[in-house]
Amino acid sequence: MTALRLARAATGRPRILKFDGCYHGHSDALLVRAGSGGMTLGIADSAGVPDAIAGLTAVARYNSLASVEQCFAAFPGEIAAVIVEPVPANMGVVPPGENFLGELSALTHRHGALLICDEVITGFRLRYGAAYESYRSADPHLLMFGKVIGGGLPIGAVAGRAELMDLLAPLGPVYQAGTLSGNPLSVRAGIETLKILRQPGIYENLESAAARLADGLRMALRQNHQLGCVNRSGSLLTMFIGENNVTDAESARRCDSKRFARIFHRLLERGIYVPPSQFEAMFVSIAHGKAEIDRTIEAADEALRATDDR
Ligand SMILES: Cc1ncc(COP(=O)(O)O)c(C=O)c1O
Repeated sequence: MTALRLARAATGRPRILKFDGCYHGHSDALLVRAGSGGMTLGIADSAGVPDAIAGLTAVARYNSLASVEQCFAAFPGEIAAVIVEPVPANMGVVPPGENFLGELSALTHRHGALLICDEVITGFRLRYGAAYESYRSADPHLLMFGKVIGGGLPIGAVAGRAELMDLLAPLGPVYQAGTLSGNPLSVRAGIETLKILRQPGIYENLESAAARLADGLRMALRQNHQLGCVNRSGSLLTMFIGENNVTDAESARRCDSKRFARIFHRLLERGIYVPPSQFEAMFVSIAHGKAEIDRTIEAADEALRATDDR
């Protein structure tokens, strides 16, 4: 909400552009073709959001620069910002295609809009810092963080260059405030978490544990002759059921969510708690060792077999 307000103030433009299936919190302008719970519950366009507000949000298809071009063409000079999860994790995990973020960045700059990378899930999870840094030529104006930087306590942050950040009150005219803004407990928990994440080997261990899990889940799909795929970026992954290639929200929606739900329950019976929706991500953590990963793969294999109702 604050990042969008800043972008609108900085550009003097009213519209924003988001991607189908991306989720950026539950503020009005962003509950349009939203991922996460909205996608799971079939309420991606929430009731209670006035048309006048939802109408200012243009929606493009993730991994499609052509659809972004179409939005810029439909609203010339009116789009303040493009907001994107660099690695979307709210339609399930859908990694960006080769050069997508770099080209999106160039396109956004060319049209005089700001690029906002929503790093709420990906920040400090995929590397020490922002995930966009792993992608050549991606050059966002604003970043959003949450989750990891609060060490499990409630937090949200916007970051950017001083010329944009100084537009915020009290220095500038863009208002932002909250009872818990800058909450010392959350900030301390975040600082301590970031100290742990600086220790050598953390991200390498996450990478190898997540790769082992993804390989094992792919093998389980293959051994059970199941249609499906495992998308992974670092420690984020999703096992999609019923689709072999998921690259955007449309292909994610074609997955067999009902069967995924049955698999979820079979896994839970075996003591494995994965996200309860096809449109969420598994987060491999530093607490997951080889034993936990292998137990998960074994349980997934059994769950796939137990739910095979062909
Ligand atoms: C990518 C992304 N952005 C923003 C948010 C919103 O964060 P919060 O729920 O803390 O407002 C979420 C929440 O899951 C998210 O996944």
